[in-house]
Amino acid sequence: MSRLIFVMLLALCASAQSIRHDAGRHVWLLTTHTSSYAMGLSPENELQHLYWGGPLWRVEDVPAAERKRDISSFDPHQMLENEEYPGWGGPRFDEPALKITRADGDRDLVLHYVSHQAKANELAITLKDIHDDIEVELDYIVHSGTIGRKSIIRNRSKQAITLESAQSAAWYLPAGVGYRLSYLSGRWAAETQLNREPIHEGIKTLESRTGHTGHNINPWFAIDEGDADETNGRVWFGALAWSGNWRISVEQTPYRQVRVTGGFNPFDFAYWLKPGESLETPVFYAGYAQRGFGEASRLLHDLERSDIQPDGLKARPRPVLYNSWEATEFNVDEAGQIALAEKAAKLGVELFVIDDGWFGKRNNDHAGLGDWTVNPQKFPNGLNGLITRVNSLGMDFGLWVEPEMVNPDSDLYRAHPDWVMNFPGRPRSELRNQLILNMARDDVKDYIFGVLDKLASTYKIRYFKWDMNRIFSEPGWPEVPVEQQRELWVKYVWNYYDIMKQLREKHPGLEIESCSGGGGRIDLGVLRYVDEVWTSDNTEAFDRLRIQEGFSQAYAAKFMSAWVTDVPNMNRRSTPLQYRFLVAMQGALGIGANLNRWSDADTELAKRMVALDKRIRTTVQFGNLYRLLSPRLSDTTANEYVSTDGREAVLFAFRHSQEYNTPPPALLLEGLDARAVYRLESLDGKPLGNSSGAYLMQQGVNVTLRGDFDSTAVLLHRVE
Ligand code: GLA
Repeated sequence: MSRLIFVMLLALCASAQSIRHDAGRHVWLLTTHTSSYAMGLSPENELQHLYWGGPLWRVEDVPAAERKRDISSFDPHQMLENEEYPGWGGPRFDEPALKITRADGDRDLVLHYVSHQAKANELAITLKDIHDDIEVELDYIVHSGTIGRKSIIRNRSKQAITLESAQSAAWYLPAGVGYRLSYLSGRWAAETQLNREPIHEGIKTLESRTGHTGHNINPWFAIDEGDADETNGRVWFGALAWSGNWRISVEQTPYRQVRVTGGFNPFDFAYWLKPGESLETPVFYAGYAQRGFGEASRLLHDLERSDIQPDGLKARPRPVLYNSWEATEFNVDEAGQIALAEKAAKLGVELFVIDDGWFGKRNNDHAGLGDWTVNPQKFPNGLNGLITRVNSLGMDFGLWVEPEMVNPDSDLYRAHPDWVMNFPGRPRSELRNQLILNMARDDVKDYIFGVLDKLASTYKIRYFKWDMNRIFSEPGWPEVPVEQQRELWVKYVWNYYDIMKQLREKHPGLEIESCSGGGGRIDLGVLRYVDEVWTSDNTEAFDRLRIQEGFSQAYAAKFMSAWVTDVPNMNRRSTPLQYRFLVAMQGALGIGANLNRWSDADTELAKRMVALDKRIRTTVQFGNLYRLLSPRLSDTTANEYVSTDGREAVLFAFRHSQEYNTPPPALLLEGLDARAVYRLESLDGKPLGNSSGAYLMQQGVNVTLRGDFDSTAVLLHRVE
């Protein structure tokens, strides 16, 4: 297809209605700027998935849903049909989207279409059990490059039901095999490592059972046909908006069908619905990209910035932050923090954050969590002395909190031992010497909101770093009836979201960072309430390149907190200060070093780097990312960011270790206008000449990177 026709086709799709319904054949066609998605009703009123791929402009092209034939008594037609939201009932043994038990013991559930409603870019389709009034509303929202799906399960029957699995959505790939799965795995201090592996028959489970999103697997997937790269190939991708126990199962059936089902993790799950009650699942977003993993990431980044983050496209670029955690740990006091604040301000820092150690008897991690009053020995003037000084230096003030947690050695625990999750009479496992409050309880939620609200009302706080430094254990909730106790997994997360929502409403301008011992709580659910996330407790710059590569598959640079810290760091590795800065400037730049130990040369370099960050951060944080060379695959890593208006671009390049005196490869740029001319500038402002977009994309930029851990950046400005 010629490029012109392709562009015209895309324009037609873009201008087309995003939801169309062929009432005669009962087919719905949902179209984003990059994809279409279709489903339809079989003659039995079963809602079947029909199409997911590149944009279509003609609903008539999509064949109507049909009833298949049984292959054998072991392969019934139900297993061959791509049911959009299968209940567990009849002879269906693929992963169900909904599995229930009624109070009378009946567990069969077969969902058929009842009605639908469409308005603008939203579609709601209601299904109902063939026998009783158990309903599911399937909600679709068509965004610019993705579709968000959730379900609302309503018990309109006369008896209570227990939900044993409640999924947000099932997604079907085009029939066939040979697909490949990409996913992010890791552990504390080694989060978001990118994996790619072939999909075979059976189920691959991506999940968290730890109560939070988790360091181990992040709720994101991408599937390609085995041959995609950053710029080429068809990629189907998705991410689940949930910060508690979640599961995404990737299943290849014996019938050459790959399906992805995701939502609440059925592990230890039970949600009790009395007559008249309902449960809403998290949103599962998914999309399709024709041009490789790079386009798939950019579509998610756009979604996050325009439709998910709290302030949408009005959000400001992240300010340059200072935090002394790695430098001072718990040894924070007014004089020491003011000394650091004065040094930070000279570098151009805009937000000064005190981390752990400012409250209660918090001199180490054995005591104090839960007692959110300022430690009078460390801060004899309360926090106001420090905040006033920080503000007078032209910086905003931020505060670390970990409000879900309690040390047994705290006044809060002595007053409310029952607030901790527990099974009565059984041990309460401590991790980092702390226990976890049952935030599913509304009294605990109100207490936590009260603590944060009081801090934000008493002090001029611009920013909370909300931490969560352990996983769940003994998740008992003895105060509610047994049939409701497992709802803790879900209600805990709702209350977490609700506290942040209320805080933001009551304190406009207040910003929040999600942290959980590094990157344990990063997902599209939390991004609705926070401005950035702490990527990893590992701030070692070379490791960070791979952590950031994985992070960027799913999440935009704007959300990625990245600090420059002292060396030698984790791995006992020492990288040059410029390298550390350029790695961190690919996200929301922070400095976490002990500034008292910096030489004059370090300080001068840091000032220049912070000034550079302020020039390029809008392009990095709000622009389009092109991953040019991967740290997993090459000794040179290169990333390029292009502003959304196409006027600015910035290229970052890093060398791990030069061998045989070989120069780095030419870096072929992307996303430029071939017909435009760009002025190139070095990171210290030297002109590097002008080149056309065509030349830069075909011949590339040659950078000098010599020895170990060399780094550079090139700025591009469109001139014609
Ligand atoms: C966690 C966070 C760190 C720091 C410490 C404080 O590990 O990830 O950044 O805030 O807690 O105890």
